[in-house]
Amino acid sequence: MRKLFITRKLFVTIVLAGVALGSLSRPVFAQAPSKEEKRRLILKGSKLWPVYCNQCHNARPPGEKAPYEWDQEIMHMRMLGNIPADDARALVEYLKTR
Ligand code: HEC
Repeated sequence: MRKLFITRKLFVTIVLAGVALGSLSRPVFAQAPSKEEKRRLILKGSKLWPVYCNQCHNARPPGEKAPYEWDQEIMHMRMLGNIPADDARALVEYLKTR
């Protein structure tokens, strides 16, 4: 009985250690882009910004909103303009450069 208890304890420890290590290697929330990925998105966003944002109103400049506000704004504009995911990511990374 005692042996079984220790074995179970050991098993739980190993599982918990595995979960802890796994969460270290993988971010919990949506991944922040790597440096190269971010560079690609900003460059793409700078080209797409006048194309998309000028369709319905004057393209709002990056400095008009704080970075966290652009996250919300892009969701709204994405819905209105039917903007594909990668384009929206590029636009928001560009808008956050202000
Ligand atoms: C399909 C048309 C459309 C496109 C494309 C579009 N917008 Fe808009 N946008 C609107 C409309 C309509 C409003 C005002 C009414 C509203 O908020 O729904 C608006 C409002 C805004 C506002 C003002 C919101 C506020 O806080 O007062 C900002 C900033 C903005 N757009 C930014 C952008 C940016 C940046 C882009 C490019 C990624 C973009 N929009 C693309 C239609 C569009």
